[in-house]
Amino acid sequence: MNEFEIAPFKLTRGAFYILDQTKLPESEEYLQIKSKEDIYDAISKLKVRGAPAIGVAAAYGIWVATEEIDVDNFPDFIAAFLKIKDYIGESRPTAVNLLWALERMENKLSGIGNEMNFLNETKFSKVRIRERLFEEAEKIRMEDEAACYAMGEHGLTLLKPGMGILTHCNAGTIATSKYGTCLAPVYLGTVRKYDFKVFADETRPLLQGARLTAWELQKAGIDVTLICDNMASIVMKNGWIDAVVVGCDRLAANGDGANKIGTSGVAILAKEYGIPFYMYVPTSTIDLLTPTGSDIKIEERDGEEITKMWYEKPMAPEGVKTYNPAFDITDAEYITAVITEKGIVYPPYDVNLKKLFEDEK
Ligand code: MRU
Repeated sequence: MNEFEIAPFKLTRGAFYILDQTKLPESEEYLQIKSKEDIYDAISKLKVRGAPAIGVAAAYGIWVATEEIDVDNFPDFIAAFLKIKDYIGESRPTAVNLLWALERMENKLSGIGNEMNFLNETKFSKVRIRERLFEEAEKIRMEDEAACYAMGEHGLTLLKPGMGILTHCNAGTIATSKYGTCLAPVYLGTVRKYDFKVFADETRPLLQGARLTAWELQKAGIDVTLICDNMASIVMKNGWIDAVVVGCDRLAANGDGANKIGTSGVAILAKEYGIPFYMYVPTSTIDLLTPTGSDIKIEERDGEEITKMWYEKPMAPEGVKTYNPAFDITDAEYITAVITEKGIVYPPYDVNLKKLFEDEK
C-alpha cells in the first residue's frame, strides 16, 4: 500500500496536532492541541471528526491535558484526570469511540496505580505517568490503523473490479488514523487496479462528502463523482451503483447503526434497488450495552448550519424553525453486512455481533 499524503494527526517534538477539517478543501492546516479546552473545541466544532478519529484525538487530547494537573500524589492525579475525562466526554454525544477511548485511558491509569501499589512505590512521578498515558494513546492510534487496514481486506472480498460504489459522508483516511473504514477497500482495491467508480453524496448540511470525501479520493487519484444527496436514487436507477459503503458512529447490539444524517434513506433506497448496503464498523464502534438504535442519543446541531452556513446571503426566512439532527439510525434490516476488523458479520446481528467479543471474556 502506498503511503498516504494526508496525515489526520501529527506528533512533532512532543506536541499533538490535528488536521483542521473545517478548513478543507481550501487549505491543509494543522492545529496544535494544548489543553482540554482545545480538544473539546476541536471535537465539538468538527475540526476533527469521524468516529475513530474522534476516539484517537480524545486519547491524545487527555494525555495533553494531564500536563495541567498540578498535584503531588496519585489519588489526586486520578481525581483530576476523571474531571478532565468527564469534560472531554461531553464534547459530542453520538460516536461511542469518544467514551471508548477515554475509558481505555482511564483503565491504563488505574493499571499504573495498581502497579505502583504492587511495587510499593510511593514516589509519585507525573512525567512517568504521562509517558505511559502517551504510550496508550499511541497504541489506540496504531490499533485503529491496523483495524482499518483489516476492514479494507475483508471489505474487498465483497467487491469486484470496475464496480460503482456509493458512499455517504466521510469515512475515509481523515476520519480515522489511516485508510478509513468504508473507504479502506476502495484504497486497497485501487492499488490492486480494481478501478472503482465512486459516487460521493455531498452530505448536507456540513458537506463532509463534498469537502472531505471528494477531496481525499481525488487527491489519491481515485475516480470520484460528486452528487447531491437527492441524486442517490437516480444513480441507483441508472444502474451505476453495485454497492453502498458507509461508516458508523455507534452500532447497537441488535445491529441498528447510527451514522451521518441521510444514511438511513440511502439504505432504504439500496434495498429497493437490490443493491447491497455495507456498514463498516470497527469493534471500537460496537456498543453492546446499547440494545437498539432507539437507545442511541442523536446529536442535534444549530439550525444555522441549514439556513446560513455556506451561503453568501441567508437562504431561508429569518427566524424559520429548523430541525438539524446530525445522525440517523439505519435499521438492522437494511444492512446487508457489517464489516469489522475481525471479519464480516451477517444477520442475525443480535446473535452474531456478540460472537466478535467472545474471545475477550
Ligand atoms: O459528524 P461527523 O462528520 O463526525 O460524522 C461522521 C460520520 O457519520 C462517519 O460516517 C462515521 O463517523 C464513521 S467515520 C469512519
